[in-house]
Amino acid sequence: MNILYVTGEAAPFCKTGGLADVSGSLPVALAKRGHRVAVILPLYNTIAAQWRQQMTFRKHIYVDLSWRHEYCGLFSLDYQGVTWYFVDNEHYFARGRLYGEGDDGERFGFFSRAVMDLLPLLDRVPDVIHCNDWQTALVPIYRQDLAGRWDALRSIRTVFTIHNVEYQGKFGPETVEDLFGLDRGWYEDGTLQMDGCVNLMKGAMLCADAVTTVSPTYARQLHQSAYAEGMESVVQRCGEKFTGIVNGIDTAVFDPATDPELTAHFSAQRLRGKADCKKALQKELGLQVQSDVPLLSVVSRLVGHKGIDLICESLDVVMQTGCQLVILGSGDGQYEDFFRYAENRYKGRLCAYIGYNEALAHRIYAGSDLFLMPSRSEPCGLSQMIAMRYGAVPIVRQTGGLADTVRSCQLGQEDGNGFVFADYSAFDMQYVISQAVNLYRTDIHRFRQVQKRGMTDDFSWDASAGAYESLYQHITGQTRSTK
Ligand code: GLC
Repeated sequence: MNILYVTGEAAPFCKTGGLADVSGSLPVALAKRGHRVAVILPLYNTIAAQWRQQMTFRKHIYVDLSWRHEYCGLFSLDYQGVTWYFVDNEHYFARGRLYGEGDDGERFGFFSRAVMDLLPLLDRVPDVIHCNDWQTALVPIYRQDLAGRWDALRSIRTVFTIHNVEYQGKFGPETVEDLFGLDRGWYEDGTLQMDGCVNLMKGAMLCADAVTTVSPTYARQLHQSAYAEGMESVVQRCGEKFTGIVNGIDTAVFDPATDPELTAHFSAQRLRGKADCKKALQKELGLQVQSDVPLLSVVSRLVGHKGIDLICESLDVVMQTGCQLVILGSGDGQYEDFFRYAENRYKGRLCAYIGYNEALAHRIYAGSDLFLMPSRSEPCGLSQMIAMRYGAVPIVRQTGGLADTVRSCQLGQEDGNGFVFADYSAFDMQYVISQAVNLYRTDIHRFRQVQKRGMTDDFSWDASAGAYESLYQHITGQTRSTK
């Protein structure tokens, strides 16, 4: 099958969050299953020269959107069995960052329309166009809008994936015609309209042939107003075309047996190297070098829905358990300041690295005994899976993808790979952290069993890429993959 994956970011080219990891690994997994897969994304100026040098310039066109007439270059690069297309327009994409600009609506309106206009220039006409998050939500809408005039589009099916329902792409009603070049009817008939403004996510959900989100539990939660950020009625309207497929991780990149960022290597069978990684991490971060003190870590954006307020509220109680704590991340200023201050109070026992550092993140996963992720909501979450692969036992709140990937080992459960608490409460989190620290201290044998179960669980894309494949087959009516 021919698949075109449309995304605002993809690792290793550009990344702000988990979407980039998914966009960098799911297409590769689909290509390995015999499909012809291409990914298309903006050519940001932050993409490293190392990649730019490998790109081939294909062609340029002009994209007409409302009264705008914009240059649009197409570059491509073959990497890991996938063709990566980059859409060039310096005015829109040479901003030094990916999102957060005042004209994001215009930028991604351009990108989405460019994807449509570039279709005839790509190596293959896709059977399926798979779009992700609001930045690409206009693609299924344009596909419907243009199919009346452009026959070749009729056979193309679209999938829209929600990576986080909080970011819906809301704009003023005037943008329908002025920015997105659509007839006002799209707004008036309610497809794009939600609470008096344009909502691109809603439009994509109604227009796409299938809508997915990144875990089955999150899919169920999105039917409820407590989680759906106002989208529950749209989710319900989608009926059976809305499903949840859990993400995988790139198990070749995240492999403690080969990871080049680590001082020592290890696996579930040969754990010795993990102790060396812990020692090296303690040294690197200025923590007391103590092998028997449990090391708890947090690698996260420091924002509300990640449950950072629970950690702040519980800091002293957590430190009283005698563990060491490492925090890596950036985000809201109040949390950043709090952890800087906490580092001063607990010198030698707590390290707060405010910022992001991918290599250090790998060393933290490898050097930690425990990994904390108390999210208020979590569509899927990748860090808990990476942590488990590196033998850091996760402590998570039972929500979204955390509930689908972490199984409790409390109450003597034989199959558990981590620790879980249900209510969003500082007290419950503290209790579970103390259970985890106690297990480490008093029954290292059982702790190792829990750890090894996480290390040997299958978090690769194998199963989930198969689920996407079935979905594509279902909506296209194709049952066999074509080489
Ligand atoms: C978003 C979600 C996260 C998910 C990721 C990839 O960042 O917040 O839970 O893992 O997308 O789908």
